[in-house]
Amino acid sequence: MEKILDTNDEWITTRTGVRERRIAKKEEATSHLALRAAQNALDNAGVKAEEIDLIIMATLTSDRIIPSTACILQHELGAKKAAAFDLSAACSGFVYSLDVANQFIKAGTYEKILVIGGETLSKFVDYEDRSTAILFGDGAGAAVVGRVEEGYGFLAFDVGSDGSGGDYINIPSSGSRSPVSAETIASRDNLIHMDGKETFKFAVKIMGHSTLEALKKIGETEEILDWLVPHQANIRIIEAAAKRVNLPMEKVIVNIDKYGNTSAGTIPIALAEAHEAKLFKKGDIIALSGFGAGLTWGSAIIKWSIA
Ligand code: ACO
Repeated sequence: MEKILDTNDEWITTRTGVRERRIAKKEEATSHLALRAAQNALDNAGVKAEEIDLIIMATLTSDRIIPSTACILQHELGAKKAAAFDLSAACSGFVYSLDVANQFIKAGTYEKILVIGGETLSKFVDYEDRSTAILFGDGAGAAVVGRVEEGYGFLAFDVGSDGSGGDYINIPSSGSRSPVSAETIASRDNLIHMDGKETFKFAVKIMGHSTLEALKKIGETEEILDWLVPHQANIRIIEAAAKRVNLPMEKVIVNIDKYGNTSAGTIPIALAEAHEAKLFKKGDIIALSGFGAGLTWGSAIIKWSIA
């Protein structure tokens, strides 16, 4: 980063917590990363692709506007009976998707749903803008959502939006309002624009607040929490959220140092890594909490059902 921008490692690590970020190859799209995450999740769950009823792909960097990345994955996985769609809620996308999946399971419509969050943000980052280039990375994570033992699983959700802050994080030339053209490429409007300060102010308030709102829905407080799996946007934002829910940093899953902000990918990647490291035990109460462009936010309270 020091080689390509007017920045320095000390500023980046102390102001953001990011030490490394993964960048997909030129020929790799979001679906390539998502496919690997999805296959790992299916293997871990002992579920075959043919058993999946629905695929929800949370992403803001879909391979193409059409077809959806979820449809690409349906074909690549051989998920023959699955319906498939992309969900657009930026960094909150994975939690939004879990909420949708939970509704379908609760209603009895579907049995097994594959939820994936992933991005190749490097394709949309302006590597001449030091305030964003240092933050973002590429990555994907996935989960198989299905019925679990009574009393376990999702206990509550809090999701929300505030479109009045839509300009804080946006790609001005990326859709029907301003299709990509030679002019918008020249003005770099086809790349991510971000008001870091406004986003930061919103973020430090919303993650803790939304987690507490989700807890309120089941008549509980932060006292029942064992773990927080937050969206990885900035270590200072994560620390503010941890403080708000009264958890020490040892109980907060942090991997921003390794991957930076992978938007919809951060929460499932952190969740998968914590599960792999056997940090969670059956019965633990885990809060997932994210925020992102939109503006959007989302939190989930889970009673861990895996021994
Ligand atoms: N290297 C060195 N200096 C820098 C860099 C950099 N990479 N970036 C900014 N600076 C400078 C600024 O120019 C400024 O200098 P000045 O005082 O001379 O004007 C100074 O550092 C302080 O700048 P701030 O913007 O006040 O720095 P701040 O502490 O707010 O950190 C940051 C900036 C990291 C962007 C922070 O605001 C942030 O994390 N915001 C939230 C971003 C976020 O969460 N985005 C989520 C996106 S989610 C999605 O949906 C994709």
